Amino acid sequence: MIEILDDYISLTAADVSYIIRAGQDRIISVYWGPAIKLEDAVSIDFAERWSSFDPEEEAYRQEYDVYNGRSFLTPCVYLDSPSDRLNYMEFSRLETTSSEIKLYYDICPSGLLLEVRYGIYSNGVVWRKASVSASEKTGLVSFYSGSACFHSYDQMSAIYTAGRWSGEWQVKSHDIVPGCFQLGSRQGFTSETFNPSVMIADKNCSETHGMVYSLMLAYSGNWEIKIEHTLTGITRLVAGLSSFDNSIVVNKGETVSTPLMYLAYTDKGYGEMSRLLHDFENANVIRKRPYCPVLYNSWEATGFNVTAAGQKELACKAAEIGCELFVVDDGWFGQRNSDHAGLGDWYVNPEKFPAGLDDLIRYVEKLGMKFGIWVEPESVNPDSDLYRTHPDWIYRSAYAEPLQCRNQYLLNLCLPEVREYILSWMRRLLSRHNISYIKWDMNRNMSDPDSAFFDDDSRIIWKQHADALYSLWETITEEFPDVYFESCAGGGGRVDLGIMRYAHQFWTSDNTDAFDRLRIQYGCSLFYSPRAMMCWVTDNNSDSGRAVRALEYRFHSAMCGGLGIGADISRFSAQELEVCKTMIGRYKSVRHLISGGLLYRQGNPFTDNVVSFEYVSKDRKEAVIFTFLHSQNFGMPLPNIRFEGLCNDKRYKLDDGCAHYGSFLRSVGIPNKLKGDFASCMHHAELVECE
Ligand code: GLA
Repeated sequence: MIEILDDYISLTAADVSYIIRAGQDRIISVYWGPAIKLEDAVSIDFAERWSSFDPEEEAYRQEYDVYNGRSFLTPCVYLDSPSDRLNYMEFSRLETTSSEIKLYYDICPSGLLLEVRYGIYSNGVVWRKASVSASEKTGLVSFYSGSACFHSYDQMSAIYTAGRWSGEWQVKSHDIVPGCFQLGSRQGFTSETFNPSVMIADKNCSETHGMVYSLMLAYSGNWEIKIEHTLTGITRLVAGLSSFDNSIVVNKGETVSTPLMYLAYTDKGYGEMSRLLHDFENANVIRKRPYCPVLYNSWEATGFNVTAAGQKELACKAAEIGCELFVVDDGWFGQRNSDHAGLGDWYVNPEKFPAGLDDLIRYVEKLGMKFGIWVEPESVNPDSDLYRTHPDWIYRSAYAEPLQCRNQYLLNLCLPEVREYILSWMRRLLSRHNISYIKWDMNRNMSDPDSAFFDDDSRIIWKQHADALYSLWETITEEFPDVYFESCAGGGGRVDLGIMRYAHQFWTSDNTDAFDRLRIQYGCSLFYSPRAMMCWVTDNNSDSGRAVRALEYRFHSAMCGGLGIGADISRFSAQELEVCKTMIGRYKSVRHLISGGLLYRQGNPFTDNVVSFEYVSKDRKEAVIFTFLHSQNFGMPLPNIRFEGLCNDKRYKLDDGCAHYGSFLRSVGIPNKLKGDFASCMHHAELVECE
């Protein structure tokens, strides 16, 4: 609900209020937290200026500001002009609808018109976005999506994920103290180093209790989130495009917009915050499908050694165990026999597929599965026909050899002919063959962002690259609306709410070790919905030298998201295949809970010996819980397995036929019979109807 009282504006939903004041020369953050009445908010007063050295509190509480030397926090807009860098905002007008506010300010003297937009979803998630229009060509160095403030003193921490290839989503905490803490990517893509998402929580916040604010930025290029904290107790979150090596040119008559940023609040702990975010993502961001089909992917089984015969053998087994989608990963095209060659040459390799790709697709379809394929449109190997023909199509500086990573370069997507090339082969691939799923990968950082091929300021490359990437995804997903898309960048390097507007699911990590995955998936689930989080059962035990975990354990770990199989099932025994069949069958019977239910995490796999992940249907009629024991120590008895989120006064039937009230299952629970190391189990509870 949006309410206006004088120059105060309140966005309220699901017991959260976000209140601002649209003044003549500034927009002030008045309040963000549990719902309050707007007429009370009007009385909120900010401290007077303390001394001539301290900016007035209002200057610190600006929701969107330009640089003019009145506040010493990060301004949302900073012009790339030594003579015109000081600017002032002048209120122009306000537009509202039932779900959105648009505030317009003239930025003087630059002549830019600023539009600051706000909206609120029914679950209390606030979205923000800004745009500028120019009457004369204007350059910007910083152009953030917005800032948001709250009072926190020194009692809070920033919770975020940090990682690296194959070790993404490690949960980290940083005390909020006066100063500035910054997360970001300058790698040209979202990156696995940090993810554009953060929670600011009470220091003693737990899964079930405590105040949490969160911010998620919907962007897949260079990004920045700053958490600024003043000695007066204001925490200010600023997020948007990275301002490092950045240049945004707004031409006369043009409008340029920032990425969307999302803000959420709860006083019920991390668990409730994640449920709120998942629910919002499922309903409002992630491309819709009720759930991800159970897929088989041949990458870990065959690597680049793809052959039609080998794929058929795997497909037979995949169908036998109940997979619904068969995916050929890297290695099917050009001369792609290793990661040294072939990227860029998107024709079906005739030696590997002598009877053509359609022969395999028909085979897969006869087995009752759909067919999917891997692509990496943004990259090229130097050893490829594409590069030999168009060495000028990559990012390179005029002065140094371009950097190769994984033996590949990045294509310069800013060039229209490059985008046209990518669209043409993708259209050909998707229209000539019956392909139901695309895994869109990208396997390197962006380097050499130099000016060799630009007449103008090459700092525009970063934003233009991300814009071009989105335009490719938008065109292809619009032209092929029935194809299922997965976003991947060497694992979980491109997981963000910008790409998830186009993708149905994402690849969480190349690390498929079932125990490491519990941690990875836990970290990822703080922010991202299990519906989209892909998890595979493989033969992999990472490079840790650990013994391979039991097949059931590997399944339980992978069943906590979208289930895929990546093991070499051609080598599985009849008994192992039978286990796969049973587990996939079980997964299918509960996947509606995993993809559309509410996640309750119990314990933290980074620190706890026993952890559970429970998924409860939104109507509270059904739940499934996966419990994992890391290692049995001292013969200690294990705590009972407890269900959360059920109705206390309703009875639920468990897998063993026993029925209990929700109150019992929550407070007492059922015995945890796990034994040994890396043990796991799954329990299901269903409402006893008609009692
Ligand atoms: C990346 C992906 C993997 C696989 C390989 C193929 O690393 O994350 O899943 O597709 O590329 O080269």
